[in-house]
Amino acid sequence: MSDDEPRGRSRVTEIYLNGLAEVTPEVPVDFEALEAAALDAMDEKALGYVKGSAGGEKTAANNEAAFDRWRIEPEMLKGVETRDLSVEALGTEFDVPVMLAPIGCQFIVHEEGELASARAAAAQDVPMCLSTVSSYDMESVAEELGDTTGWFQFYWSPDRELAASFLDRAEAAGYEAIVVTVDTPLAGWRPRDLENAYLPYLEGVGIANYTSDEAFLDRLDHPPEENTLATAQAFLDTFGDPSLTWEDLDWLHEQTDLPVVVKGILSRADARRAVEHGADGVFVSNHGGRQVDGSVAALEALPGVVDEIGDEAFVGFDSGIRRGADVLKALALGADLVLVGRPYVYGLAVDGADGAEAVLANLLADFDLSLGLAGHDSVTDLDRDALVHESELP
Ligand code: FNR
Repeated sequence: MSDDEPRGRSRVTEIYLNGLAEVTPEVPVDFEALEAAALDAMDEKALGYVKGSAGGEKTAANNEAAFDRWRIEPEMLKGVETRDLSVEALGTEFDVPVMLAPIGCQFIVHEEGELASARAAAAQDVPMCLSTVSSYDMESVAEELGDTTGWFQFYWSPDRELAASFLDRAEAAGYEAIVVTVDTPLAGWRPRDLENAYLPYLEGVGIANYTSDEAFLDRLDHPPEENTLATAQAFLDTFGDPSLTWEDLDWLHEQTDLPVVVKGILSRADARRAVEHGADGVFVSNHGGRQVDGSVAALEALPGVVDEIGDEAFVGFDSGIRRGADVLKALALGADLVLVGRPYVYGLAVDGADGAEAVLANLLADFDLSLGLAGHDSVTDLDRDALVHESELP
């Protein structure tokens, strides 16, 4: 990325100049068209896994609808010739307020999976949060990221030796924060996966961090390649821990020197508990609607969490980010940065690393233009005054 050219203008110039040679974007620009192209590119099982949410998928729908209930109130003649998209989070300065969400099992949408996503992230200077259940091990993904910041998403394991080993490995590989996901003590009721009778882990996908870990290999009677099913069973035995309580966060802090961010918070009370138990921040998120059907939208929960802990801790956001305007709205409501989830995986499905990179470039260009057109020259200039809630419209 060039430092001096605004993301919005450089991207639209590139696209329109290509148009002179009759070349139109290979990866659809519009989110709905991107999703349609990705659903076309994926097989039925991958489609169900990525697109699918819990139950009637009401939470997933409401995540997106919640953005429509806030409107941007643009201000004119504000002098927006340069826009500063940078933000600070957990003591690190980021060029842009967007990070790749942890999404597991990416091999099922593209054979290069998280390696390709990391390359796309690095090419766009976008940090990445890597899932515990990645298809490639955390060390290989860190190599692809190079100097680009990585955070490691941590799924607890009842096997504390394995859990501690993951935390050590993440720190050694250069990840700069631990994002502990607390909304998945159990996997949600996901009709699409159930209809397809499909769980990728049973086919050995998404367990690379496990099969590269001595603490996990010790549990097996045979090497993973000799018995996929037994390996999958051992994985299921060590994945998720429904007995966890807030007190277990104290153990996590003892295991790592990295900052800890709790992902999956939807109430002020839980945000306060996270901070009381030493968290450096939270991600307001409902896992893209994949866990609790009929849940509060993540965006509906964001202002309360910001009011509760925003002055003292990091508040990130995800679930429903599709366009630049969505990024703007979440930041205006007080998020320090946002995670983009399904959109980049759709790009990966359409065209591998290039596809994921195109999605990121488009999202950031759209955000840059939206920010300037709304009358703001920096992310730090955004606050709730930038928005009007539907209920307050005349
Ligand atoms: C996820 N998400 C997720 N979260 C997490 O903490 N660890 C994980 O391994 C995964 N895996 C995963 C797989 C798939 C296919 C999806 C769609 C999502 C949740 C993810 O980090 C994020 O919260 C959501 O993707 C945000 O919702 P949208 O914006 O993608 O709808």
